[in-house]
Amino acid sequence: MPIKINHLSYTYMKKTPNEVKALDDVSLEIPDKKITAIIGHTGSGKSTLIQTLNGLLTPTEGTVEVGDFVITNNPKKNKKIKELRKHISIVFQFPEYQLFDETVEKDVAFGPKNYGFKEEEALKKAHEALAKVGIDESFYKRSPFELSGGEKRRVAIAGIIAIDPDILILDEPTAGLDPHGSNIILNLISELNKSGKTIIIVTHDMNIVMNYSDHVIVLSDGKLAFEGVSSDLFNGDVSNYSIEIPKLFQFCKLLEEKGAKIEISKIRTIDDLFNQLKERK
Ligand SMILES: Nc1ncnc2c1ncn2[C@@H]1O[C@H](COP(=O)(O)OP(=O)(O)OP(=O)(O)O)[C@@H](O)[C@H]1O
Ligand SMILES: [Mg+2]
Repeated sequence: MPIKINHLSYTYMKKTPNEVKALDDVSLEIPDKKITAIIGHTGSGKSTLIQTLNGLLTPTEGTVEVGDFVITNNPKKNKKIKELRKHISIVFQFPEYQLFDETVEKDVAFGPKNYGFKEEEALKKAHEALAKVGIDESFYKRSPFELSGGEKRRVAIAGIIAIDPDILILDEPTAGLDPHGSNIILNLISELNKSGKTIIIVTHDMNIVMNYSDHVIVLSDGKLAFEGVSSDLFNGDVSNYSIEIPKLFQFCKLLEEKGAKIEISKIRTIDDLFNQLKERK
């Protein structure tokens, strides 16, 4: 299901003295079955944008098209939003907002149960999803509210995986995770994508953008500032976006300047660089 956003604006607390225009005439496309990274400075509108994608926030102006679903500012036209949410799920920036049940396994089983699976099947799906995020059986009966920040985040991600949507949106999924926890999530994201899922990931980490994304969207003050591939972003003028160019990209540029014949646009990891250098000897 490709996503098409047309002239989308979103204003919080419209027509009050506190109104904030969080998105301002944004038009873009999110390709199907790819990994898209959404980046931009704090307050640039990233979390607002993703919440418009499954109808949690309805556009102030413009439209959001997800496959055949169209979300507009006319509530009468947004009847199929419950159906849409089977296909597109969000893991929020702050997992505490998402967790609510008394045990970890019940929390993760809630989604499948809500979509019609029997208790036993829903629990089975929950256990499978928890295993995928590296949460073992000893956590099943614990309260999700008594977990560490990183554990909460992983349980919240499992809650989405258990629903098996076509599109998974993850708002800063590695924030607060140690390198081990972070790698589990990033490998999982990569695996989910290989199995045909569309992934949208909000992040401040440019290494994730370089290593994993097929498509990058940069927001700045609620406006679309860049849309394209990461190598074009890092090659261009990034002085306005407060982003740090990954060391690997900088190193590749240096090699290129010194005469190494490498194709930077095809390099995501050190292995890719190594293989290119090996082939060219
Ligand atoms: N519930 C809300 N009520 C009023 N204003 C809000 C609300 N949520 C966000 N905003 C404002 O909308 C703008 C965009 O916020 P948003 O949360 O989308 O930014 P973000 O890019 O996700 O930032 P961060 O990187 O800090 O998570 C900001 O100016 C923010 O203060
Ligand atoms: Mg945010």
